[in-house]
Amino acid sequence: MCNEIRTKNLLGLIVEPYEGRWVEPLSDASMTRIFFSSLGSFLVRKVTIEDRYHRGTEYVVDMMYLRDLEYRDGYENLGCKVFFDSNSEISMIEDHDGSLYHPRDNFWEWAKLKARSAVFVYASVEYLMWYHMIYANIPGMSLRMFLPPDHPVRLALTPHFFRTHSTCNQAEHLLVVEKGIIHRALPFQYKGGLEKFYTDMMTSFQFSTYPVELEQRGMMDNEHHIGTDGVFLHGILSRYVSNLVDEIYPDKMSFMADPRLKEHYEFMSKKIRGVTSEFNMSNFKMVWGEILFRVTGAHTSVGNVAIYALEPFSVNFRMKEQDKGKVVGSREAIAVMSLISGISCLQNTRISHKTGRMLFMTAKAEHMLD
Ligand SMILES: [Fe+2]
Repeated sequence: MCNEIRTKNLLGLIVEPYEGRWVEPLSDASMTRIFFSSLGSFLVRKVTIEDRYHRGTEYVVDMMYLRDLEYRDGYENLGCKVFFDSNSEISMIEDHDGSLYHPRDNFWEWAKLKARSAVFVYASVEYLMWYHMIYANIPGMSLRMFLPPDHPVRLALTPHFFRTHSTCNQAEHLLVVEKGIIHRALPFQYKGGLEKFYTDMMTSFQFSTYPVELEQRGMMDNEHHIGTDGVFLHGILSRYVSNLVDEIYPDKMSFMADPRLKEHYEFMSKKIRGVTSEFNMSNFKMVWGEILFRVTGAHTSVGNVAIYALEPFSVNFRMKEQDKGKVVGSREAIAVMSLISGISCLQNTRISHKTGRMLFMTAKAEHMLD
């Protein structure tokens, strides 16, 4: 199947995005892109003693959390750890049962499919809960609750929250509920599975600045996007917010004398765990700089899930136990991602594109909620 897809790619039957991202989407090299520049970049960290350190491994993405969720019958357990060497090249995958897979092993391509699918699922839930429901929802709400429409801070920051409230509202009914789109699409039971996943994600949230987070994960000086563009963008947005605040408030006295701003900040510090309750100009700038970084560049990087889901067999979050060793896609997985992409108006490949049709012809048919 891999060869068939590569052949079709070579023959021009698959339309690539402008940036040529689909070149060898199943290759080992693509794992570095996914885990250091995109979906996995918010999970990757330096290995520690607790990771059962293996010779030659330098970085790890630990998704063993997925191992302990409850699955519907017949679905493959997605728990795994993905290891990379000091060049950020994938070197090993540890499966949920402790089995180890290495490049060129018999099950290597299948193990990579699982790793891609696991990070896709993990990042999607984290993205929905942390980026949409917390980093976007609460500040956006707070601006509207405490600052009048003509308040200069509300005017300056509101453009960063396009459709935030309707997106969160739709997500509650479409993505979070039992038998909603995500429950149908993913292999988990609701109780003990998806519901637990959402709940754990919300309760484990802790506000942190991106540089501090990178330091804690040992990734501050990483040469990929996580440590380069990500850090630069964070600095740019922090300065942008700082300049905006300075523009509005000529000095700290005038800033502290705005009672509405204090109420607005206090609401965020109560609702976002880890935001300091001390209201002053420098904390305000730090918190808002972080929020804008999360809802813009970081959001796009983590949230650009559709492009991975719609690549030919790049992910299959409905892997079946009976397919162990095989690299196969899922018609339902593609349909769900196309639907979500359509609803959210993402300018990514849609089901009407050639790739979608190719997948429908070749992907194995399943039934939803089986
Ligand atoms: Fe989003």
